[in-house]
Amino acid sequence: MNKIKIAVQKSGRLNEDSLRLLKDCGISIDNGKDQLKASASNFPLEVLYLRNGDIPQYLRDGVVDIAIIGENVLIEKGDDINIAERLGFSKCRVSLAVPKGIKYNSIQDLDGMRIATSYPNTVINYFKKFNVTPDIHLINGSVEIAPNIGLADAICDIVSSGSTLFKNNLKEVEKMLTSEAVLAVSPNISSENQIILDKLQFRIQAVLKGRK
Ligand code: PRP
Ligand code: MG
Repeated sequence: MNKIKIAVQKSGRLNEDSLRLLKDCGISIDNGKDQLKASASNFPLEVLYLRNGDIPQYLRDGVVDIAIIGENVLIEKGDDINIAERLGFSKCRVSLAVPKGIKYNSIQDLDGMRIATSYPNTVINYFKKFNVTPDIHLINGSVEIAPNIGLADAICDIVSSGSTLFKNNLKEVEKMLTSEAVLAVSPNISSENQIILDKLQFRIQAVLKGRK
């Protein structure tokens, strides 16, 4: 039987809430936690556990049909990919932060400064609006440590509780965008899988309504 393939974050803050949503939709997934692939026993669906940053390309290539992913990742790497549903969890913002002791007046202060981030396109697009050119240093994790080790003057990363900024003596100076988990759809989804997606979306909408 035909199955729809859904990408779910392999590990990290979206993983648990994504699986809970599928569960709340009445979908049972036989999870060997270490497997990268799992099937639902009572719905035509296969889950692929993938790295966040890889998901937009997998959607584009049609390797997966749909994904539960942070909107911020789509903004960074997949602004060509459609969102079918906003899911209301994993809310966060993508912000710029500088060391607490630094005086910060406006974004102009960051002209030519070194910005450590995993979101280069988001930073470049944001700075463009202000005619400011950052010196981007691409880092894939633990970005907040960069100013403390002399690698950057500022950082741009996800802020949720704010605890990582606090622990690293940084202050949030610009909120660039807000984000939440979304259901994203491959531009290459087949008509067969679109029918399965419609059924899944119907269940998701019922669950989200119940959560309000
Ligand atoms: C994420 C993100 C921030 C932090 C924000 O990092 O990159 O560092 O969470 O959350 P907070 O405001 O609640 O502290 P994560 O812990 O997922 O690890 P990583 O950066 O190494 O991927
Ligand atoms: Mg981090």
